[in-house]
Amino acid sequence: MSPLNKQLILTVDDTPLNLDILNGILSNDYDIKSAINGKIALKIAEAVIPDIILLDIMMPDMDGYEVCKRLKANPKTSHIPVIFVTAMLSPEDEEKGFKFGAVDYITKPINPAIVKVRVKTHLSLANQQKACMTIIELQVKELHENQKAAIHMLGTAGHYNDTDTGSHIWRMADYSAALARAANWSVSEVEAMKLAATMHDTGKIGIPDDILKAPRKLTSDEWKVMKMHSEIGHKILSNSPISLFQMASEIALSHHEKWNGSGYPNGLAENDIPESARIVAIGDVFDALTTKRPYKEAWPIDKAFAVLIEDSGTHFDPKLIQLFISIKSEILEIKEDWEKQYNSL
Ligand SMILES: [Fe+2]
Ligand SMILES: [Fe+2]
Repeated sequence: MSPLNKQLILTVDDTPLNLDILNGILSNDYDIKSAINGKIALKIAEAVIPDIILLDIMMPDMDGYEVCKRLKANPKTSHIPVIFVTAMLSPEDEEKGFKFGAVDYITKPINPAIVKVRVKTHLSLANQQKACMTIIELQVKELHENQKAAIHMLGTAGHYNDTDTGSHIWRMADYSAALARAANWSVSEVEAMKLAATMHDTGKIGIPDDILKAPRKLTSDEWKVMKMHSEIGHKILSNSPISLFQMASEIALSHHEKWNGSGYPNGLAENDIPESARIVAIGDVFDALTTKRPYKEAWPIDKAFAVLIEDSGTHFDPKLIQLFISIKSEILEIKEDWEKQYNSL
């Protein structure tokens, strides 16, 4: 094996002679770095990320337990297996070592064959664990990508026969996520909003084409059918117990409710309307106003903001409108980013 491929061991002991003995046993098979106290050991461990650490316990200033504790508390070094090499022989000492996160315990005076076998065993266990983690990470990533793709398909299906432009659902979801962040939602909730908002009109899949695409004002009966998209979307999306879809179904049901209770389907008012749906109502309308549709030109930003302000407290949650105004520059950035993407197609 070329020296480049050798695994790296960090040996830590305050007695240079002990380090010499350990290094002598291991240097044929491994690269070795050594430290003569805990502080130096922590520095080296963070800088080079060894594959395993052989750690003395009784050292002045910082003992091996403390070194091990700090290694385990640092996300950069927490995965490195630690073997205590020590003259402390009592079962209590041994137990204490494991409590601090060590994987093994070798007692002095050391037996070269045992040191070699233990190091080899723990390195191979660590390698297996690394390989498993890589597989799991890949699978989680793939699952996440699949979930995202399925969500995008649902969102697209809802708007497929619509007169909206294709990018509407992604852009309005970006606006909604930015507003959720401004409303103090956590990072994971904001991420969920970004996906859930795209499904707000999934129920339009159940609305007949001639109503959805009618190039005229709808009759009151047709309008009644059109309004059913909220409940149809809710029905489709509430089939999943996953919290993301629960949020999406809540949004689908209530994104046409209005702050003053005049919306549909349930005439909910104020905080009875779920916050997710109050947020999406703003992102959705803002995007509809500021983009070109077959029946209208894109409105200038300031005119769209003026409409939101005018409808604050009637259609929209006034506090959320205030927040939306406070992030106007971020909203404009999102809009410009989307325009750039669209123009580059
Ligand atoms: Fe809708
Ligand atoms: Fe929409």
